Amino acid sequence: MCGIVGYVGSQVPSSRPLEVALNGLKRLEYRGYDSAGVALVAPGVDRVVSAKKAGKLLNLTAELEAHPLANATASIGHTRWATHGAPNDLNAHPHLADGGRLAVIHNGIVENFAALRLELAGDGVTFLSETDTEVAAHLLAKELAETGDLTEAMRRTAVRLEGTFTLLAVHADRPDTVVGARHDSPLVVGLGDGENFLGSDVAAFIAFTREALELGQDQIATITPDAVSVIDFEGTVVEPRRFTVDWDAEAAEKGGFASFMDKEIHDQPQAVGDTLLGRTDLEGRLVLDDLRIDESVLRTVDKIVVIACGTAAYAGHVAKYAIEHWCRIPVEVELAHEFRYRDPVVNEKTLVVAITQSGETMDTLMAVRHAREQGAKVISIVNTHGSTIPRESDAVLYTHAGPEIAVASTKAFLSQITAAYLLGLYLAQLRGNMFPDEIAKIYDELREMPGKIQEVIDRGTRVREIARWMADTSSVLFLGRHVGFPVAMEGALKLKELAYIHAEGFAAGELKHGPIALIEPGQAVFVIVPSPRGRHSLHSKVISNIQEIRARGARTLVLAEDGDEAVLPYADEVFWVPQAPTLLAPLLTVVPLQIFACELATARGLDVDQPRNLAKSVTVE
Ligand code: F6R
Repeated sequence: MCGIVGYVGSQVPSSRPLEVALNGLKRLEYRGYDSAGVALVAPGVDRVVSAKKAGKLLNLTAELEAHPLANATASIGHTRWATHGAPNDLNAHPHLADGGRLAVIHNGIVENFAALRLELAGDGVTFLSETDTEVAAHLLAKELAETGDLTEAMRRTAVRLEGTFTLLAVHADRPDTVVGARHDSPLVVGLGDGENFLGSDVAAFIAFTREALELGQDQIATITPDAVSVIDFEGTVVEPRRFTVDWDAEAAEKGGFASFMDKEIHDQPQAVGDTLLGRTDLEGRLVLDDLRIDESVLRTVDKIVVIACGTAAYAGHVAKYAIEHWCRIPVEVELAHEFRYRDPVVNEKTLVVAITQSGETMDTLMAVRHAREQGAKVISIVNTHGSTIPRESDAVLYTHAGPEIAVASTKAFLSQITAAYLLGLYLAQLRGNMFPDEIAKIYDELREMPGKIQEVIDRGTRVREIARWMADTSSVLFLGRHVGFPVAMEGALKLKELAYIHAEGFAAGELKHGPIALIEPGQAVFVIVPSPRGRHSLHSKVISNIQEIRARGARTLVLAEDGDEAVLPYADEVFWVPQAPTLLAPLLTVVPLQIFACELATARGLDVDQPRNLAKSVTVE
């Protein structure tokens, strides 16, 4: 939540610092879009120059066109997801202090801001906004007055703040420097030639460099055009880990699609294919190199707990069905925020699997920490390199979905499911639950999935048509059994968050225990039908459920496997998907539901990439 970018370059003032900041903000806008702002410093100019506007970045760029800012040598930029204070111009970042010579931007929440505000007010500080950030800015100014050193002042400020924060600061007296601090909020360094960058994630500077440094928890980075130095909150110098980003700026562009979401739906065959790449050795055995946990531990764990939020948690539900079936280990799936605060039974024999696209979700991070404190080993399934959760896990299995910009998750979801399958098969191989040829067969079937996902996308015309017809609908239900159940929940979540329509996903068997009362003539219900080639009883039970709702007037929109003619008498509309093993089918059945939500929201004139009230990376609890 909140996107942050910092830049410092050659000592000849130019338009580049502003260009870099705006480019970074455009790429980070998915992290929050309540307001945007920039601050610039240049040699010989005794005040920070800044501009900020409520609303999307577009409002700021219009303001900058009307009132251009002077050339500079360093910049910071911020796009906001509001926490303290309404999303208006005044509360937008940057916040200025030291008589307009210091500018600060912030991601996170300063929990002790009220006490600090009182203390600073006692010193005679006048506050212009309602934000916690302005408190941090004035505290930094006070420390700077005492120390005369921006890095040391940032360190002293950081240790006084409670809560979560990434802070970036520039000062008019130091036009060659940007200082950033992080505590439970993300910050990475980008390395350029005669210029350096800071960002909430690598998207902030991907247009300029793919070389980056990973910052650890409680660290402070000071960047100048030619150097980067990092210390911890004790003041000790630390050596950050360098990495190269494995995608480029083009991957983060719309590439001719109407929205990032549409593009990312189309990226899914590749996301799944890339996540499967390089996972076998010459003998065809699965090798998950990234799993640095002792094999003996993985052999002896007696329970798996999957922790995640939202869409990632639905990937965890799919993982449960597959891992329990393949490995015969009990798997629990829990929303990270519920897990953390309910005293869960977790110990050295528990393997915790944390699933997260951003690697920064605060609820999931807190759950990871809690699990490790109880002695559990944690494997995280993560899409974003350089993020916090992999650093704090015992092992990480990276998904290779590339940057996911649209706030609603699509390709990350499919690659999370894929990674979870790999983990399940790997554990089955290690623990001897399956014969090697059984594992190889499933792995081969998995490798056919990208082509089948492409087929589902290619067949999307009808579901788009139906979505447009249904633009005015006020409620849609989704039913599924077995792995179709999490798909139903995901279909409903997509529709809620994108189209602001009441939507619910149910286990089809639960229908008769209450939800069937919702069915009235015309109620649209998507039903995910399992393969008739799988367990016969599962298929026939879902067919019965369709009949039950049809009999009560529901309009049935059925997702069925090619050739499953049994659905025809009961379906108002069928969306066919290629044949696939039951456990792998979610990779296909969710795709028409993503397309449906995206198209329906577009038909309602909504911004599918940036739905209201949401942000991509939820870094507050
Ligand atoms: C919904 C969506 C969210 C995220 C959730 C977890 O489309 O994207 O529900 O799945 O906020 O985010 P990550 O995966 O970054 O931990």
